Amino acid sequence: MTIEEIKKIAKEEIAKAENLIELDQLKIKYLGRNGYLTDVLKSLKDLAIEEKRKIGSEANALRQKLEEIFNERKNALVRNIEYKPIDISIPGKKKEIGHIHPISKIQEQIEDIFSSMGFTIAEGPEIETEFYNFDALNIPANHPARDMWDTFWLKPNPKAPTQQIENQKLLLRTHTSPVQIHYMENHQLPIRMICPGKCFRYEASDASHDFQFYQFEGLMIDKDTSLANFKFVISAFFKRFFNKKDLKVRIIPSYFPFVEPGLEVDISCPRCNQKGCPLCKNTGWIEVAGAGMVHPEVFKAVGYNPKYVQGFAFGFGIERMAMIKHNIPDIRLFNSGDLRFIKQF
Ligand code: FA5
Repeated sequence: MTIEEIKKIAKEEIAKAENLIELDQLKIKYLGRNGYLTDVLKSLKDLAIEEKRKIGSEANALRQKLEEIFNERKNALVRNIEYKPIDISIPGKKKEIGHIHPISKIQEQIEDIFSSMGFTIAEGPEIETEFYNFDALNIPANHPARDMWDTFWLKPNPKAPTQQIENQKLLLRTHTSPVQIHYMENHQLPIRMICPGKCFRYEASDASHDFQFYQFEGLMIDKDTSLANFKFVISAFFKRFFNKKDLKVRIIPSYFPFVEPGLEVDISCPRCNQKGCPLCKNTGWIEVAGAGMVHPEVFKAVGYNPKYVQGFAFGFGIERMAMIKHNIPDIRLFNSGDLRFIKQF
């Protein structure tokens, strides 16, 4: 663009600028480091000396002139802002108010029920060492039980050697059971705690599995805590959670390396009262959790003497609880970001 063209177009555009942001952008366009006028000044070096002098002085004069025009327009715009009357009769814009996510709501309900039974709410890290996620839970390396939890392993970060733990691979925790270990290491008997939290598994998503989901772990131990205590606590919890006094709990044998005996917990179908429905696949029962009496090897790993200590642990999926309670057909809805789903809660 020639100096004359710049002068003409810049003046028109500055006059049209409607706010300070637009004006700033124009200033950059004409006077900035790569602006039109700066380009003209840069090109002077290739000109003959006479021309250099002529165009150079014209360009500098234009720069001064444009600075003045920019300042005038700026003052005008600022005056305008200051004196613009506010029309207080215009109706306000309604802000959309968000609400708590259904998973958080369910988590709060679970915490309330267990707190009322004297359980503490604990937390643990989502990034774990293999010691806490596996070894301390009686799942040594190369044990086939490690295959029960498809794991996201983390690559060591050579730039952050202080984050490495000697001889320990890091992973995203596959369950909340490692929090038991942290908790027992740092507390004395009697222990009554639950720990809700996010877990990760390297598996394909389907209607009832996601690669990231919430569990809550429970742990109650003392000198003589028994399976009878477990049955009472867990039945009391489910009756309150589903608001059904006649809800039944069934406990059958199962296997988890960190408990002995290992148990599966089923509840009578709260939807059909065991008459048969798609939720319970017409069996009248729904599997809801893994549980069992804490294995002596786990007590040894945290320095407790298994001769004098006993108790139970359990682990539930929080999404699963929400799905049963609210008749939600697909776990993937929770993280879909679909407001039609979220707004129903
Ligand atoms: C465990 O993770 C054990 N740590 C539970 C336990 C704790 C047993 C203490 C004994 C003593 P499991 O893999 O079955 O167990 O998972 C427990 C619950 O987590 C399941 O019932 C399910 O509701 C939920 N869950 C597991 N994998 C997924 C997944 N991929 N997506 C959503 N929920 C899941």
